[in-house]
Amino acid sequence: MTESTRQEQEGLRPDPAVMVLFGASGDLAKRKLIPGLYHLYRGGLMPKDFRIVGSAPAQVGMDSDGFAEMVRSSVATFGRQEGAGADFEGFAKRLSYCSASTPDFSGLASAVEAAKKETGAETVIFYLAVPPPAFVPVIAALGKAGLSKGARLIIEKPFGYDLKSAKELNRAIHRVFSEDEVYRIDHFLGKEAVQNILALRFANGIFEPAWNRSFLEYVQLDVPETLTIEGRGAFYEETGAYRDMIVTHLLQVLGFLAMEPPARLDSRSLNAAKNKVFGAIRPLTKDDVVFGQYEGYLTEPGVAADSRTETLVAARVWIDNDRWSGVPFYLRTGKAMGASKSVATLGFHVPDLDRFEGAALPAGGGACNQLVMDLGDPGSIEVGFLAKTPGATMDVAPAVLSFNYAESFNVRYELAAYERLLHDALLGDRTLFNAAEGIEKLWEASAPLLNDPPLPISYPKGSFGPDEVSKLIGPYAWKLG
Ligand code: BG6
Repeated sequence: MTESTRQEQEGLRPDPAVMVLFGASGDLAKRKLIPGLYHLYRGGLMPKDFRIVGSAPAQVGMDSDGFAEMVRSSVATFGRQEGAGADFEGFAKRLSYCSASTPDFSGLASAVEAAKKETGAETVIFYLAVPPPAFVPVIAALGKAGLSKGARLIIEKPFGYDLKSAKELNRAIHRVFSEDEVYRIDHFLGKEAVQNILALRFANGIFEPAWNRSFLEYVQLDVPETLTIEGRGAFYEETGAYRDMIVTHLLQVLGFLAMEPPARLDSRSLNAAKNKVFGAIRPLTKDDVVFGQYEGYLTEPGVAADSRTETLVAARVWIDNDRWSGVPFYLRTGKAMGASKSVATLGFHVPDLDRFEGAALPAGGGACNQLVMDLGDPGSIEVGFLAKTPGATMDVAPAVLSFNYAESFNVRYELAAYERLLHDALLGDRTLFNAAEGIEKLWEASAPLLNDPPLPISYPKGSFGPDEVSKLIGPYAWKLG
């Protein structure tokens, strides 16, 4: 069976669609969206007929030729397949460009109409890969041009700057789109290993019974990055690590880690389960949070000389419900750190080891009693435990049970996070997208911290943050140094 017939038989081929990509000249389109759409095309996961209309405001100075060239170089540079050959030409001829400046989208409306006629598509998707200040004007212009009717809206993060702006944004969206037409994207939820948290918990009888305060001492989610803010100074000054990573990605993953078992794995049940957790998060204050700033940040282009923007956050989060009462959730992320990884660790209560009197025990005692999920691509899971060492004693030492995606499964059909989510949006499946209510709850829980943030403490590039970050998690330790 060829790749494409397999996908078709399983009902994975979406109906004909027109997708308008706002922000077509931007980094996200170039690095992820265009190569991702091409990968879906090669895998037989795009509709039989479709059009992708790239768009950007007139002042960007992009035209059809420029867009076609950008598509080619984006696939060649960032794609997994070659940006040439018959397949690529088949893809490229379905892409076009239409410049559109708010508030007048009448030209775009004609282009969408023509694309619908050519393909017979009823599905129209608008992807807002634009800077946050452009969200509301673009949405309003879509409404004014009559383009929103029956269409889907994919909207990027950061979704608001605080509770007030998130609510305003939701109101602006709901003036034009109904909630079930809105796809708030968080690409962390598109990662295979993150979705596997749901499989691990809810498809097995081994782990879920221990997934609570009776068995667990703490949970940590560690997402350091080696990259610096890399030419994104102006954006980062406005955003900072908390808004860029915590209130979006890390707290969403925490939703998967901490939720009650949902009745079904559909959008409604999953979002309801996540929203319940988000509503139970004790509002964060600076007593539970350390902000860091890497040395050299102040001299990055676009950064104020006296900037207090945080490039690292470590937080202790409490979830006030029966399952998690008394179990701290530690979150850490930052730029210019000592590793690029994404690891969730569940630390188990350690039994009394006194009965092993006289035997050699490892330095950390039973601290290795952990379930460790590497959420990278393709991801792995390890269970750390103590095992008897061979010989005439009852000495014990740390041992590991491990699962690795790449070694255990054929990862041929694996989709990158954005690919999975683009495909879901084409199918009209909102399961892995975020609801208005959940996002507002997260901003609500973040409000005391954002109103009165701690001062960032400086840390050397390539490190794991200032000492205060290790102190915050004591008596435990960060998995990644
Ligand atoms: C983005 C943030 O949303 O996620 C970036 O804006 C961050 O600052 C990136 O580097 C991390 O995503 P990934 O998929 O590379 O882990």
